[in-house]
Amino acid sequence: MKIDLQTAKQLLLSGAVVAIPTETVYGLAAWLGCERAIASIFQLKGRPSHNPLILHIADKESCRKYVRALPAGFAELADAFWPGPLTLILPIKEELIPALARASLPTAAFRVPSHPLTLELLQTVQPLVAPSANKSGTPSSTKPEHIEHDFGADFPVVDGGPSLHGVESTILGHDDGVWYIARLGAISPEELEKVLGYTLKILQKVKSQVICPGQLLQHYAPEAHLILSEKPFTECPRRSSHVVGYGDRHYAGAEKVYILGNGNDPVAVSHHLYDTLRRLDQEKVTAAWVDMAIPENGLWKTIRERLFRAAKR
Ligand code: TXA
Ligand code: MG
Repeated sequence: MKIDLQTAKQLLLSGAVVAIPTETVYGLAAWLGCERAIASIFQLKGRPSHNPLILHIADKESCRKYVRALPAGFAELADAFWPGPLTLILPIKEELIPALARASLPTAAFRVPSHPLTLELLQTVQPLVAPSANKSGTPSSTKPEHIEHDFGADFPVVDGGPSLHGVESTILGHDDGVWYIARLGAISPEELEKVLGYTLKILQKVKSQVICPGQLLQHYAPEAHLILSEKPFTECPRRSSHVVGYGDRHYAGAEKVYILGNGNDPVAVSHHLYDTLRRLDQEKVTAAWVDMAIPENGLWKTIRERLFRAAKR
């Protein structure tokens, strides 16, 4: 059910969960001041309680109240990428953030989204905790229809149109004086490195501690079985397959081709990624061959990672 911003504000302040648009993917939002609503997010998504939520704030100043110390490089990153698809994991004053929202960690993840409707919402209700608006494990929602599919036609959604980037924010953590990538996302490592001036490691663990619990779980996966291949389609043993591929390539003999965008346009490909994976399920496709002959740098790195995870059931 599409709702306007005024209704969204009232619902959030009264303890309801509302789907909100961001420039990456849609989020399932609750106000940090209402623990009951935060608990409902976990229930609605079927999300394990050890997977913490991102706090969405209106501007970089708004995280100061919650944070114990701001690491070197914070100001440069925030000035370069906020509002925008960058999430920063920061050490917090634990008493100010309910343990449920941060999975009892001594840190919390913060981001300032750039979608104008959500930025306006955050001017009056913040912080909003918001995971991606999908059932745990499945592809994120990039259109209001996806939310209606996952949570029912009556679920309140602020319609902000199709999500611009189509993949989630890049998450950075900080350890021993340097930032590292905890989750690849809409901002490429190269863009971050230009601002920080050093090469960023992509880490799963720091000092044997898991740093981004959501990265360990099954994620982004449609029902359809995805067969990833770097080889040309001419070498595919079952040429009658459904194909997930690129508009500027030919897949002679394929039963149906689902086009992500052109093979030289990672922005278009990420924009269409989850919608395409969801279409496979809508059309009851049980298996699809995915063209993985794509570069490994820039935004392609994120697209590759999402496809690998989508194929891993
Ligand atoms: O683009 C995005 O980031 C979207 C939009 C809605 O903002 N949100 C999103 O949220 O992708 P979610 O919950 O689907 O993914 C958040 C990830 C999870 O993998 C979680 O484990 C990690 O962030 N995370 C959250 N807080 C953390 C913390 N304190 N330490 C480490 N990882 C954290
Ligand atoms: Mg998610």
